[in-house]
Amino acid sequence: MKKTRAHVFKCGSCGHEEPKWLGRCPECGEWNTLAEIAVASARSIRAENGAKTGNFSTSPQSFPLSSVDPIEGKRVSSGIEELDRVLGGGIMKRSAVLLGGEPGIGKSTLLLQAAAAAQTQGRILYVSGEESAGQVKMRADRIKAEKIDRIELCCTGRMEDILVILDAVKPVLVMVDSAQTLHTDDAGPAPGTINQMKFCAYELISWVKEHDAALFLAAHVTKDGLISGPKTLEHMVDTVLYFEQGVSGEAGNTDCRFLRPSKNRFGSVDEIGIFTMGEEGLTEVADPSLLFLVRREGNIPSGIATAAVLEGSRSLLVELQALTVPVKGSVSRVFSGSIEINRVSRIAACLEKHLGLRLSDQDLYINVAGGIRINEVGVELALAAALYSARTGIPLPAKTAIAGELSLAGEVLPVRRRNIREKTAAGLGYSLFTAEDLKSAIRGLFGDGKH
Ligand code: TYD
Ligand code: MG
Repeated sequence: MKKTRAHVFKCGSCGHEEPKWLGRCPECGEWNTLAEIAVASARSIRAENGAKTGNFSTSPQSFPLSSVDPIEGKRVSSGIEELDRVLGGGIMKRSAVLLGGEPGIGKSTLLLQAAAAAQTQGRILYVSGEESAGQVKMRADRIKAEKIDRIELCCTGRMEDILVILDAVKPVLVMVDSAQTLHTDDAGPAPGTINQMKFCAYELISWVKEHDAALFLAAHVTKDGLISGPKTLEHMVDTVLYFEQGVSGEAGNTDCRFLRPSKNRFGSVDEIGIFTMGEEGLTEVADPSLLFLVRREGNIPSGIATAAVLEGSRSLLVELQALTVPVKGSVSRVFSGSIEINRVSRIAACLEKHLGLRLSDQDLYINVAGGIRINEVGVELALAAALYSARTGIPLPAKTAIAGELSLAGEVLPVRRRNIREKTAAGLGYSLFTAEDLKSAIRGLFGDGKH
């Protein structure tokens, strides 16, 4: 006979549930606290089955696949283009989006701006467990959200209250700020545990799926990911967006914010949304190239190269800055926040091997203007050029945007979507440079070496 999950083992100290008995609770670390109990409530079993099958009626049933109405295509605009872009073309109905980011990055601001912009879609419920109604209104005034009559506000994190309000308001969009403030009387005695957060998130997700709405759930994450809590929510939601600041915090560009999907059931994870934070909230940056270039009069210093990289469907020109100084310790080190250290080391090794440029006795520093993280392989040739220029002291030619991936053998591999890069470069008065191999690239960029 098929065994149904009628019992679980629940920790008497933190409320954590395990399918098997364990001597020690993996959640709070207490010993001998797990006791067998009957599964929580009929509602959560129904919600669980419903979330798996899309069917929320009480008796389990199957249905012909051909009769299924695909939810793909049921998207609504958030009213914020950069947000729609990272979501894959708008908010998917019945979906749940986790918005992670460090405190102060602008999660609440983004949720409120999206709430204001999305009112054309219907009523919106903004649940704030962190701030008072007055604080939320002050932010609404600050971002100049004038017409806000379709936004309902409730300031609580108590799940029982939120569910009652949801049923009364029947919003099309639910903003919850934040996951960490959610709690329920139903899930164990200790509020604020990961288990409570998961339980409440589950109820919220079930509600939006049952009511053809969509959910945005803000969650705090620290820089080093110390709080593992929101991580456990990632597998429950459809889309995970991380809101982050530029890594180098260059003067003038510190207000730049990047919205990056790390998981997206309904779109690509390559797209990024770019915003700047100003006096009146977040502003979308539709044409971001100028943010990552540094305006200069006269000659370009050595160590500076412009790369034409791909970010999702867009191409960006970004300025790379390289500095090489003789090693201080016994081994050479790479200091780079925006480009992976492994990538920098590999490109340096290529230059050393194929051009005889000695870099192994140097510490290497790499920056990207605007602090944008670059993971695209097309950045490699520009990185090689910046390092070569830094080490030799020879500057690169002006208005040259470089694109190319490097193989370990010193070949330059063709980049994806060259046309888009060319067009972006041309639009900013740059010409696109690429080559067949590293040697000829360096010759093409720096001349024949008679400097
Ligand atoms: P907030 O949205 O509260 O961040 P989070 O919810 O992620 O913690 O906003 C964070 C910062 O942004 C805060 O320090 C104030 C600043 N800010 C502005 O500079 N301009 C604005 O218009 C708003 C609303 C906030
Ligand atoms: Mg906030």
